[in-house]
Amino acid sequence: AFNLRNRNFLKLLDFTPREIQHMLELAAELKKAKYNGYEQPRLKGKNIALIFEKASTRTRCAFEVAAYDQGANVTYLGPSGSQIGYKESMKDTARVLGRMYDGIEYRGYGQEIVEDLGAYAGVPVWNGLTDEFHPTQILADFLTMQEHGRGKQLHEITFAYLGDARNNMGNSLMVGAAKMGMDIRLVAPKAFWPEEELVAQCRAIAEETGAKITLTDDVKEGVQGCDFLYTDVWVSMGEAKEAWAERINQMMPYQVNMEMLKATGNPHVKFMHCLPAFHGEDTVVGKELAQEYPMLKDGVEVTDEVVESKHSVVFDEAENRLHTIKAIMVATLGQ
Ligand code: CP
Ligand code: NVA
Repeated sequence: AFNLRNRNFLKLLDFTPREIQHMLELAAELKKAKYNGYEQPRLKGKNIALIFEKASTRTRCAFEVAAYDQGANVTYLGPSGSQIGYKESMKDTARVLGRMYDGIEYRGYGQEIVEDLGAYAGVPVWNGLTDEFHPTQILADFLTMQEHGRGKQLHEITFAYLGDARNNMGNSLMVGAAKMGMDIRLVAPKAFWPEEELVAQCRAIAEETGAKITLTDDVKEGVQGCDFLYTDVWVSMGEAKEAWAERINQMMPYQVNMEMLKATGNPHVKFMHCLPAFHGEDTVVGKELAQEYPMLKDGVEVTDEVVESKHSVVFDEAENRLHTIKAIMVATLGQ
């Protein structure tokens, strides 16, 4: 029933709730095995290509360490240095890499590019982030929610995603929550709500799973009673730097700060972020922003106080990228 062998992992819309649950369970098992020193290498002798047309810390490292833990080898293809995109189409690249590799990860721009790769490679292709979706991140987020949900199952969890709900994270969290029967609130200015078509698709899924999907620009209503508050950068990779100027004013009411945590009414509320996060002046961009916009000196999409507080589970979440990405590779490629 749960044979995911040779499947692509391009977006959560392609998977049933039980398949997603299966990958989460496998991730938890693999995590326990690693912690207790009895992990079995199920990807021995496999060769894996990692294509990154955008920057990455977590996703690249998770794929590499997961592969090594499981006995596989990797080749990293960065934003420059290969023929991809400039001299060679993705369709041709797919057929070439498919002759040499057993699995391919792709991070880049349009979802249609990774879909093309998946259609022509002949080996499993995994989406490491596109403009539209970031599905491996959602598995890590849901594993983290299970671990920090105070005994709640996913379908019993209520969470809010604040800020840019039109980006890959807003889209993917909405799809994931719909699939798993969760209560999700996308709390954002109307112009940053996910596209109508995707919302309609998710509402249809929710009919079957019992999920509750709320789109609102009202922070108070959105965060009330939440188990988790989740946010992401206001300007994503691949977007123009100029976007910051007008976005800051629109997004400021959605900044996650201590006051907003209190407004949930839940003293145990947890804070999540896919990272990287702008929560202070200790990055080049964070410093530039704080210099230009003094109101951002405590943080941008989230304050430093929240990230460093006992509510924050962002580093558990980051670690879970490893265990969940490993589960995806083992499920689709493992012996
Ligand atoms: N969360 C995430 O995908 O991080 P990276 O961009 O560092 O891979
Ligand atoms: N929305 C962010 C996610 C980074 C993991 C981006 O695409 O840049």
